Amino acid sequence: METISEFIENVLSEGAYKIVLSGPAGGEYRRVTLNFDRGGYFAEKLTAKQAFHERIPPEKAAARIEELFEGFSQINAWNKASEFTARVTKKGKLLTGRHAASAAPAAQGAQREKSYLLSSSEVIPPLVDMGVMTPDGRVRAAMNDKFRQINRFLEFIDELIEKEDEDRELNVIDFGCGKSYLTFIVYYYFTAVKKRPVRMTGIDLKEDVIAFCSATAQKYGYDGLRFFAGDIADFAEQDGRPIDLVITLHACDAATDYALYNAIRYGAKYVLSVPCCQHELNTNADFSALPLFDDGGILRERAAALLTDSIRQKLLTFCGYSTRVMEFVDLSHTPKNMLIRAKKAPLPMKHRLAALKDAEEALDLLKTEQTLHRLLKENGYLDIE
Ligand SMILES: C[S@@+](CC[C@H](N)C(=O)[O-])C[C@H]1O[C@@H](n2cnc3c(N)ncnc32)[C@H](O)[C@@H]1O
Repeated sequence: METISEFIENVLSEGAYKIVLSGPAGGEYRRVTLNFDRGGYFAEKLTAKQAFHERIPPEKAAARIEELFEGFSQINAWNKASEFTARVTKKGKLLTGRHAASAAPAAQGAQREKSYLLSSSEVIPPLVDMGVMTPDGRVRAAMNDKFRQINRFLEFIDELIEKEDEDRELNVIDFGCGKSYLTFIVYYYFTAVKKRPVRMTGIDLKEDVIAFCSATAQKYGYDGLRFFAGDIADFAEQDGRPIDLVITLHACDAATDYALYNAIRYGAKYVLSVPCCQHELNTNADFSALPLFDDGGILRERAAALLTDSIRQKLLTFCGYSTRVMEFVDLSHTPKNMLIRAKKAPLPMKHRLAALKDAEEALDLLKTEQTLHRLLKENGYLDIE
């Protein structure tokens, strides 16, 4: 008969990505969920009122899981192919079994099935703290759209960095990170899923939110992830390191312009920016030359937003980026669904000049200025060599 130690050793050697201890038997916890994380396991231990977390390094996993199991009567564990079960009967006998894998709890739910870049088996611990996921790995209904957007973002990142040396630490900045769901997920994706080094920085105006994000990063030992409270307009890369990737997700209005300006200023290799609340042209532009859109309402608002992003794209092109504006996620998930993707590229001067001409002609037509254009102009980035 298999002993519990043998069962646990076997499950670990078979590469279990999730292990659940249940059937409380007089111990301290009601349920313990262990998710494979960075070679070891990340445990979520639930009492009636609280959740406790513990990181278990690989060399201690077998002994610690056995210890935790002392308060339980049942273990379920999953690897890609199988579900393993062990149950202690009332008479103290251990019954073990193995059968073809059914979905582990975290894999259930449509929103997870579609998120193919993030393993559907893993709880992302900080997201549990942030209320995005339940402790057993389900994305909360209210967060489905955000989670879907972030997964889409990961796909774009993955495609961009495909050819980057896997051992080189990438420097990523998230401007207007807010509650930082995206920042944490990208960091987790790089470090735990892709197993590649990254240094990430999140910047936002909200001091309380940034303090919470910093504490959360510290709690999970995310050494390469840091947060700063401040204005994107005042950003300075502290140690002068080159920036690989600038990301923005719904950085409001001109905050996107300052982020793009910083990307250009620091020569970021890649930019992924999903703008929102493009109020500037809607407020300041003179649409009389475009009477089709001059309704003082939704047409003007939409036209202003499209013109803003198109001008941003052209300015990025002039500054030496190969750019594309594309649909980010389906409109049914967010109306803010345009993504500006930019990669540094050796573009012909003729092409760059044509882009600048397009942007400036639009601004002339609208008899207005636009923040990214102004910043680039004031700082000499539009001077033609
Ligand atoms: C709509 S939220 C998006 C947050 C996050 N990126 C996300 O998608 O969940 C926009 C964030 O941009 C921040 N923000 C706006 N203007 C900013 C500025 N000038 N400097 C820094 N952060 C700014 C706001 O504080 C807010 O948290």
